[in-house]
Amino acid sequence: MKGLLLAGGHGTRLRPLTWNGNKHMLPIANRPLLYYGLEHLKEAGVRDVAIILGPIKEGIEEQIGDGSRFGVRVHYISQGDPKGLAHAVLCAREFLGEDDFLMYLGDNMLEHGAAPYVQRFAQGDATAVVGAVKVKDPRHYGVVELDGQSRIVSIEEKPALPKSNLALIGVYLFTPAIHPIIESLKPSARGELEITDAIWALHQRTGKVQVIELDGWWKDTGQPNDLLEANERVLASRPPAFFRVEGRIDHGANVSGHVALGPGGEIAAGATVRGPVVLGQNVRIESGAYIGPYTSIGDGSVIRRAEVERSILMENVTVDVPFRIVDSIVGRGTTMTERRHLPKGHSFVLGDASQVVL
Ligand code: G1P
Repeated sequence: MKGLLLAGGHGTRLRPLTWNGNKHMLPIANRPLLYYGLEHLKEAGVRDVAIILGPIKEGIEEQIGDGSRFGVRVHYISQGDPKGLAHAVLCAREFLGEDDFLMYLGDNMLEHGAAPYVQRFAQGDATAVVGAVKVKDPRHYGVVELDGQSRIVSIEEKPALPKSNLALIGVYLFTPAIHPIIESLKPSARGELEITDAIWALHQRTGKVQVIELDGWWKDTGQPNDLLEANERVLASRPPAFFRVEGRIDHGANVSGHVALGPGGEIAAGATVRGPVVLGQNVRIESGAYIGPYTSIGDGSVIRRAEVERSILMENVTVDVPFRIVDSIVGRGTTMTERRHLPKGHSFVLGDASQVVL
């Protein structure tokens, strides 16, 4: 079985974080989102993976390389301007050949990964297996309606009036029977080749599309708050062994719960850190600072005086302010300091589409 890991898309709803980088490389617990997807593919038994790249691909090839670090062979396929999930399959046609394949959306986070779906696919004779979960507001997703015997009644992409609350989660298994369908697919009203339309057509043609609804959390990380939630869930579910202390915790530092501290890092006497928290390499938490649960802080960052809780700070962030920062995502190299001169007030240098909540 081959794997497709989708990393195209503009990530417009995550701006300004995605102006200069691919959204799939944003960090969750200090690791790029895409790494989790690669691991899930590996766990599911996939060894040949094509990463589908869109127009913003900075850093992906450089950091993932040939995939050997993840135990898989990684190929890269350029999708150009992303024109839908079925378009991504079309771009990977040659790579996929006549193999079955697992398509995994790189911006999705799944508690149990993809292995349970692959197992079900391998056990039966389905032409496709798709993962689904119940959500509160299904209008943003592919929505599948099932009858009492779990047979598909309808599948629609982002319907205004959803017929059920069961959303497609971005894990799809296909036999090569999907290819001729995708090759004759017409763009949807939003101008994309929708995988949802292809699945519906495959269901009509073969009657062997299976929907698998699993327990466990799932997050589509489309918006800033989704990233914070994914960060929270990942930190809450990592095993204790994940939280390695390789830096120095000074005598007199107040550390509780699971806390990871990278090499060269320091939690100074008089600082308080309450896990689950991940602090990268050379991170310094200075005396008087407080780091609260569900916070990730990237390499080289320094926290002085401030309190930081349920936030994602990327690399080389300096925070030196006498107040509490919550539910925040802070990009690389950002500095927050206190204004010590007149006129009093807050002073900002913000990129396009930044968000400030004071
Ligand atoms: C895509 C699919 C949709 C699916 C969703 C899961 O939507 O088109 O059917 O429910 O991923 O994240 P998109 O993220 O492209 O809006």
